[in-house]
Amino acid sequence: MSHETFTLTLDGVEVSAAPGDTLWQVALRAGETIPHLCYKDAPGYRADGNCRACMVEIEGERVLAASCLREAAPGMVVRSTSSERARAAREGVMALLLVDQPAREQGPDRSSHFWDTAEALGLDADAVRRWLPPREDRSAPTVHHVPLREAAPMHDRSHSAMAVNLDACIECNLCVRACREVQVNDVIGLAHRGAASKVVFDFDDPMGESTCVACGECVQACPTGALMPDTLVDDKGHGDSRAADRRVDSVCPYCGVG
Ligand code: FES
Repeated sequence: MSHETFTLTLDGVEVSAAPGDTLWQVALRAGETIPHLCYKDAPGYRADGNCRACMVEIEGERVLAASCLREAAPGMVVRSTSSERARAAREGVMALLLVDQPAREQGPDRSSHFWDTAEALGLDADAVRRWLPPREDRSAPTVHHVPLREAAPMHDRSHSAMAVNLDACIECNLCVRACREVQVNDVIGLAHRGAASKVVFDFDDPMGESTCVACGECVQACPTGALMPDTLVDDKGHGDSRAADRRVDSVCPYCGVG
């Protein structure tokens, strides 16, 4: 494969790229962080393209493209910040996710990447909620499924190091990739389909009873705080990942090393 760089146009500016670069990476080098929820810019993480928060417009294409997945090509003309369609698509995705999030101050992580992204897009959760009727008024889809066993609770404090609140989960799949592909532990998966789908540990066990080895990769990857260090979440389930910036003495509950 040729490693020669080429040029393309991003928001009216000529930028260079190498073969294999995604549009998201090209934009980042050009100084723009395109909104992203299911993509983590770190070694070992592949893009999955399932949240659609990173859409851009490409000249000559009718359908918007996910910039985290789409590879740059010579001569491409891409519009990100300069595209009204792309901006509306990103905001639409965030708005739909926002209405199903626990309120920021009552959620598991008031400083999550999700809330930072919503804020950067200028989206206010209360205003977005007013667009839609309350959750209980919306017609629920009919879902038939057989639980694997008695389901683990959505709020799960069974693990000594990690707190789980699946009410905040957006099913971006990052924790699954973190566990399965980055750490090769394969504890976390997605079970069921459609509206019934959810993140599970092993066979839908409480996290503390699963084969989790407490590596913490999933907590680092989670954009919403659905998976959080237990020490950063209070008794009511409210947390703040920025509190992790303070220095603490800690001992691993499994190996006993501080
Ligand atoms: Fe690109 Fe989710 S970040 S689709």
